[in-house]
Amino acid sequence: MSVIDSALVQIKRLHPYSPGKPVEELERELGISSAIKLASNENPLGCSPRVREVLARASEHLELYPDANAFYLKQRLAQKLGVAENQITIGNGSNDALDLVARSFLDSNAEAVYSQYAFMVYAMVTQACGARARVAEAFTADAKQPYGHDLNAMLALIGDDTRLIFIANPNNPTGTWLDSGELEVFIEQVPDHIAIVVDEAYFEYVEQAAYPDSMQWLDRYPNLVVTRTFSKIYGIAGLRIGYSVSSPELCDLFNRVRQPFNGNTLALAAAHAALDDDSFVDESRRANVQGLKLMQDWFENRGIDYIPSAGNFLSVRFGENSAEVYQALLQRGVIVRPIANYQLPDFLRISVGTKSQLERLFTALDDIL
Ligand SMILES: Cc1ncc(COP(=O)(O)O)c(C=O)c1O
Repeated sequence: MSVIDSALVQIKRLHPYSPGKPVEELERELGISSAIKLASNENPLGCSPRVREVLARASEHLELYPDANAFYLKQRLAQKLGVAENQITIGNGSNDALDLVARSFLDSNAEAVYSQYAFMVYAMVTQACGARARVAEAFTADAKQPYGHDLNAMLALIGDDTRLIFIANPNNPTGTWLDSGELEVFIEQVPDHIAIVVDEAYFEYVEQAAYPDSMQWLDRYPNLVVTRTFSKIYGIAGLRIGYSVSSPELCDLFNRVRQPFNGNTLALAAAHAALDDDSFVDESRRANVQGLKLMQDWFENRGIDYIPSAGNFLSVRFGENSAEVYQALLQRGVIVRPIANYQLPDFLRISVGTKSQLERLFTALDDIL
C-alpha cells in the first residue's frame, strides 16, 4: 500500500481547476511579445491608480504578518455595504469564501444543490468535502434565459440531506442572471436550515434594472450568504481577495474554519484603496457596456449565436469547430477560454477586452472564419 492509497477518495477523484492560459506562456511558445488574454474575465483597464499608490506603502513591512482580522478593510466594507463588520468574512479570493462555506456545511452525509453549467468551483468544493452533488438541469438553449439556472428544478432537488445551495448571479460561464423577484421567491421557499450561497462575483458589472442586491435580504434570511470579489471590476485578481457577507452567527463559523492570515497585507491594503475609487469602477462598468455591445453586434452581424450575458464576458457558439477556432486564435496571439469542461463544447467564452483588444480579436476571427 502506498501513501497515495491512504489519501481521501474524494480528493483523488477531483479534477484540478483549469485556468486560462497565461499570456507569458503563449508568448514563450510562439516567440511573440504581444499576446492578449480574454480568458479569465479580468478587468482590461487594470486597477485603480490609488491601488498602485497604496501598494508601495503597504510593502514597507512585509516581514510582519497581515492583520488577521482585516480590521480596516472590514470597517470600510461594512460602511460601503451597510452591514456590520461581524458579518464579513475575508477570503483569499471569493473562491476561498466559497470553500469556507462548503467546509462549514458539507461532509459525506450531506448534499449540495447547484445548477448545470454553474461555476466550476461549486462542484470542486462539494467533492473535496466528500459530499454528494445534486445538479439541476439548466434551461435549454431555446428558453427565455438560455442555459440559465432553473430555480424550480433546483428546488425540486432539495432533499433530507441537502445542506447547501450554490447560486451564481450572474453565472460564469453562461453570463445568465436571475432577477430580484424570482430569486427572492426561491430563497423564501428553501427550508431555513439549508445555507444558500448567492455568488455575486460580477455584481458591480451588472446593468439590468431588475438585478437584485442580495445583501438587502440578509436580515430576513439568516441562511443566506453573499459572496463578492475584488478580482473582477476592481481589477486585483492577482492579489487574491474576496469576501462573504452573512449573519454574524454564520460569519463566526466561517472565521473558525478560515486560515488565520488568508488575506495578505498587500491585498488588504489594495482592496481598501480600490473601494475608495468609485470613478474607476464607473469607468470600468461603462467600458464593459460598450465592449459587450461591440462584441454582441459583431457576432450578430455574422450570424454567430451567443448566450446573452450580464457579466464581463460572452460565451459564443462556434459549433463543432470551437476547438479549432480556439487553437487558431492562440496562433494569432489571442487567448480565449474553451468551456467543454462545462459541458458546453460548442462554445468559447470570451472576456470583454478594451476596444483595441477587441479589434485584435475581430481581425483574428475574420481571418479564421
Ligand atoms: C462566478 C464566479 N464566482 C467566483 C469566482 C472566483 O473569483 P475569485 O476567487 O478570484 O474571487 C469567479 C472567478 O472567475 C467566478 O466566475
